[in-house]
Amino acid sequence: MELSFLLILLTFLPVSQLARSPIVIGMCIRMVTLKCLIFLVPGLLGSKFEAKLNKPDSKAPCMKTSDWYTLWVNITTIFPDHDKCLVDNLKLMYDEDNWYYNTEGIEIRVPGFGETDTIEELGVDVPYFHNFVEHFVKLGYTRGKDINGAPFDWRLAPDGLKRIRYYEALHQLIEDSYNRNGQTPVTLVAHSLGGPVSLYFLSKYVSSDWKASRIKQFVSLSGVFGGTLKIILELISGDEQNIIRARPLVLREALRSFPSSVFLLPSPALWGEDEAIVVQPKRNYTSRDYEELFTDISYTNGSRIYNEVKDLISDFPPPNVTHYCYYGSDVHTHANLYYNSSFPDSQPVHIMPDNGDGTVNERSLQSCRLWRDKQVFPVIEKSFVGVSHRNMVLNKEVLAAIEKLVLS
Ligand SMILES: *[C@@H]1O[C@H](CO)[C@@H](O)[C@H](O)[C@H]1NC(C)=O
Ligand SMILES: *[C@@H]1O[C@H](CO)[C@@H](O)[C@H](O)[C@H]1NC(C)=O
Ligand SMILES: *[C@@H]1O[C@H](CO)[C@@H](O)[C@H](O)[C@H]1NC(C)=O
Ligand SMILES: *[C@@H]1O[C@H](CO)[C@@H](O)[C@H](O)[C@H]1NC(C)=O
Ligand SMILES: *[C@@H]1O[C@H](CO)[C@@H](O)[C@H](O)[C@H]1NC(C)=O
Repeated sequence: MELSFLLILLTFLPVSQLARSPIVIGMCIRMVTLKCLIFLVPGLLGSKFEAKLNKPDSKAPCMKTSDWYTLWVNITTIFPDHDKCLVDNLKLMYDEDNWYYNTEGIEIRVPGFGETDTIEELGVDVPYFHNFVEHFVKLGYTRGKDINGAPFDWRLAPDGLKRIRYYEALHQLIEDSYNRNGQTPVTLVAHSLGGPVSLYFLSKYVSSDWKASRIKQFVSLSGVFGGTLKIILELISGDEQNIIRARPLVLREALRSFPSSVFLLPSPALWGEDEAIVVQPKRNYTSRDYEELFTDISYTNGSRIYNEVKDLISDFPPPNVTHYCYYGSDVHTHANLYYNSSFPDSQPVHIMPDNGDGTVNERSLQSCRLWRDKQVFPVIEKSFVGVSHRNMVLNKEVLAAIEKLVLS
């Protein structure tokens, strides 16, 4: 394996590179392993969940008891009323000790930490990072060795992830892998919500010294650094176009219980006080009016969650490592939402178009620019025309660009 990789690599390397000393300090290429370690941090809904049930009071068609099974993504949700079971099992509760927990009678775990299989396929026939990982395996990478996944409980925001010791685990995983692979620095590749989740890790969790030796570069693919309008739609009236075809108003209950949804609300730093992002017959709302919006849509826990998560990265803290900010552009994306008097219980009657990647608005995708003046390391931005939010993890051009980064 190592040898064949060497041969492949040699044919790609410019001659000047070969003439250099065997160990090129500060680069990932070493004559010993020839690889830059890759760590993948998935996005919202992008980690598989397994569950075990003991819910004697559940009503059909929901299961009462079970051994561990795939809760997310499980295609049985498309059957009538199964969306309710999913919501019942996925939604988060909150207690007086300021902590989140699952509904009674269910245990949930995120399988495959450190591996890639559970983020390659989220469920039967629900591919995610598969093409990405395959691309690098063909170049000589080995799953779980030099290409690793860091799936997480995407219902939580970075503060919650810190509390369940996700960042500690990620730190340890990188540390172990770095040492096992001859102290090779790491390329962190994050998609979607994984962008801000990784940013929190880099800017608030680890030290500059640690980053200097361990992190070669941070690559974000459609990083949602400044939130997105689409999440407001989901919190107000649920989403029609979701991967599991649940009813919007049913799914809404679960989405409203996740701190991660609220964490992704459009940033007041990017959406001004003169921009009516939600319009309904009785009034307009800007990014300064979230508290009133929550009250008007009877989202009773919204304000509490918002206050927990709103300042986690609202000042756009720089990752303080070399950053490649990759995102899709020129895909029709949601802007201002116009509701009729059925607000908030029906879908908007009109949605203004915006530029973006179909899920995230351009201004949020481009907010990595704000780091240029805040850090000495370069921030390199690149847009991929017509590549949608989800396709950023499998588009050939994107993969070729990342290949260049990890092999140079
Ligand atoms: C999907 O969920 C159903 C119950 O809704 C369960 O019986 C089945 O085992 C699950 N599928 C997988 C692959 O775990
Ligand atoms: C708000 O959170 C509390 C505590 O978890 C929960 O009991 C309540 O049902 C939630 N409210 C709604 C409307 O979901
Ligand atoms: C950024 O990283 C450099 C080099 O590792 C370090 O000297 C500097 O103190 C860091 N800046 C901040 C704000 O952490
Ligand atoms: C709400 O916004 C719309 C569109 O931006 C505007 O036409 C309308 O005057 C605004 N209404 C109020 C009450 O501010
Ligand atoms: C509001 O619009 C929705 C479609 O988005 C429609 O189903 C509903 O009947 C409308 N309500 C009123 C009061 O016109």
